[in-house]
Amino acid sequence: MLDALKAQPADALLALIKLHAADPRADKIDLGVGVYRTGDGATPVFKAIKGAEQRLVDEQDSKSYLGPEGDGAFVSGLMPHIFGEDADRGGRIAGMQTPGGTGAVRLALALAQKAGTRRVHLGTPSWPNHAQIVADLGLETVPFDHALPDGTANVEAVLRVVREGEAGDVVLLHGCCHNPTGIDYTDEQWRAIAEALATSAVIPVLDIAYQGLGHGMDEDAAGVRQVIAAVPEALVAYSCDKNFGLYRDRVGAFYVLAKKPDDLDTIMSNANMLARATWSMPPDHGGAAVRIVLEDEGLSREWLDELGDMRERMRGVRERLAAADAAIPGLNLGALADQNGLFAVLPLSSDQIAKLREDHGIYMAGSGRINVAGLHRGNIDNFIAALEKVAG
Ligand code: LMR
Repeated sequence: MLDALKAQPADALLALIKLHAADPRADKIDLGVGVYRTGDGATPVFKAIKGAEQRLVDEQDSKSYLGPEGDGAFVSGLMPHIFGEDADRGGRIAGMQTPGGTGAVRLALALAQKAGTRRVHLGTPSWPNHAQIVADLGLETVPFDHALPDGTANVEAVLRVVREGEAGDVVLLHGCCHNPTGIDYTDEQWRAIAEALATSAVIPVLDIAYQGLGHGMDEDAAGVRQVIAAVPEALVAYSCDKNFGLYRDRVGAFYVLAKKPDDLDTIMSNANMLARATWSMPPDHGGAAVRIVLEDEGLSREWLDELGDMRERMRGVRERLAAADAAIPGLNLGALADQNGLFAVLPLSSDQIAKLREDHGIYMAGSGRINVAGLHRGNIDNFIAALEKVAG
């Protein structure tokens, strides 16, 4: 029976990790998968997380099951950071822990599907796994353009979807640091989206995977908070992979905003059932470490400082790239200074991307997405010089 299966292509983004590792050139540059790197090219464990992990080693007295909802104090501890004051909106928000942001997106869409959703409106380009999850669930992706050619967000496109979408439709929105473009809605645009969603039949799924990597924890949640304040119902997928550096520990959370507090028990009973049937329970270790950081003032301060350093370093890289705009006019590098987070998309052809890889040892996604955190003082001049050669 299994010989009926057709071979599937390897995930193109994850395949880049292996390609880069196999390249013997000492000056190769990895701008592929979205992990933060320091100015030395390392992805260290946050000091605050190390401190929390030490406490776990010293004090954790059981690894017995917690249940499909995971660590409740981790889930509630994140809420003021995501939703701000009145973090549960008068008892209308509940959540549960998930295996990474991917688990949260999957759970949000599976729950929407159980409630009747058939179509997911998705601004493209988007993180490739979004459309893959939608398809794997048997839902339909309805694409709209996320960005304008000048490197800003196409707010009219999302407003059209929200105004014209049908009952039960979902619109999947990136909360901040859009992956792959780095192009976020402005506060004013978020206000317009929130207002339109308030009276729309379309339900938002807000994916927040990079909070704190754009302008700050509160700033990066401002759009999400506007939507949450305006709409009757919303689903939220959250990832701690990047802003706590916990990638392989798979730390995420799923939240639901219900019309009224009384609805939450029924909604969450469905989410629990879906989680149980899919992964049973989320892995505990990373979530427990985040909980300890959030509960401890000193560790929290240390974490926010480390996050601030990451943000500043990436701003510096963006500014350096933007300063090369005049030298390579076709790439619109100037726009990178106003974009956010780990990613930007360079309008390179697949031949140019292949040339960068083969001739210069520069690895980026086939979409032209670069991870700006892969650049630092030691390699950024080489990168710009290679871009000039290939696309100048
Ligand atoms: C990325 O887009 O590079 C990250 O979100 C990692 C992933 O899982 O794809």
